[in-house]
Amino acid sequence: MTTTVTTRPVTRVVTAQEASEGAGVRIRRSIGTPELDHLDPFLLLDEFKSDRPSDYVAGFPDHPHRGFETVTYMLAGSMEHQDHKGNRGHLVAGSVQWMTAGRGIIHSEMPRQDHGLMWGFQLWVNLPARDKMQAPRYQDIGPERIPEVDGGGGVRVRVIAGERDGVTGPVSGVATNPLYLDVRIPAGGSFEQALPAAHNAFTYVFEGEAALGAGPGADGRRVAAGQLAVLGEGERFAARAGSEGARLLLVAAATRREPVARYGPFVMNTQEELQKAFRDFQRGTFLD
Ligand code: CO
Repeated sequence: MTTTVTTRPVTRVVTAQEASEGAGVRIRRSIGTPELDHLDPFLLLDEFKSDRPSDYVAGFPDHPHRGFETVTYMLAGSMEHQDHKGNRGHLVAGSVQWMTAGRGIIHSEMPRQDHGLMWGFQLWVNLPARDKMQAPRYQDIGPERIPEVDGGGGVRVRVIAGERDGVTGPVSGVATNPLYLDVRIPAGGSFEQALPAAHNAFTYVFEGEAALGAGPGADGRRVAAGQLAVLGEGERFAARAGSEGARLLLVAAATRREPVARYGPFVMNTQEELQKAFRDFQRGTFLD
């Protein structure tokens, strides 16, 4: 019997849009915009990158979340996280925080620097209906706990969640069984990764450029830094870097196909649940 492994094509390319978040932090958003509202189960993807303190010092003062997960991955700089229960976390370069907000947290995410480069990503991942009101959970993972795999030909892969070459990332117990890789491909180099056929997947290129979805009979689609590519059906991701190399996030997760009712920091399944989230927050019963 012959099995054919299909390379996932790029079905869509979205250029990240500049926006302001929190108390005035400059970000570039590629999921969670009018152009791409969500990509089940992904609700939002922001890249923040600036060496101008005025772009980031105001940070993200106290704000709530309910019904989903926030994943903060830092490339440079330093951020402090603090929630209403006194949980604190220090996010340094190369670290990740996978926060399951569940039924609710109120927290702040503030820079711990007043100069220098601040660079990283925040991804929002939806929770299945059955988990939306679960107790909050934090996975604060230091850089030393994220394995880096030699992908051959000069390719380096940091495995944050999921598996690469038998190496499993430190993030565990997440409902959507995610893959989250930070991939560095040298100039002209190639990278391939198996992806579960039933997972939705995207790539966000953040340095250089790459041809994505290249395979037999297909040249692939060129995607440059600051662009997100939605991947179509198949079992494998393939990328070939351009003349300056490329660095990208490759992210995949199981879809739920449940209704999404969202407003700001609340993501539920119905309008009633959304209104309840607002009421609970206003009454201060949000966290009961
Ligand atoms: Co937050």
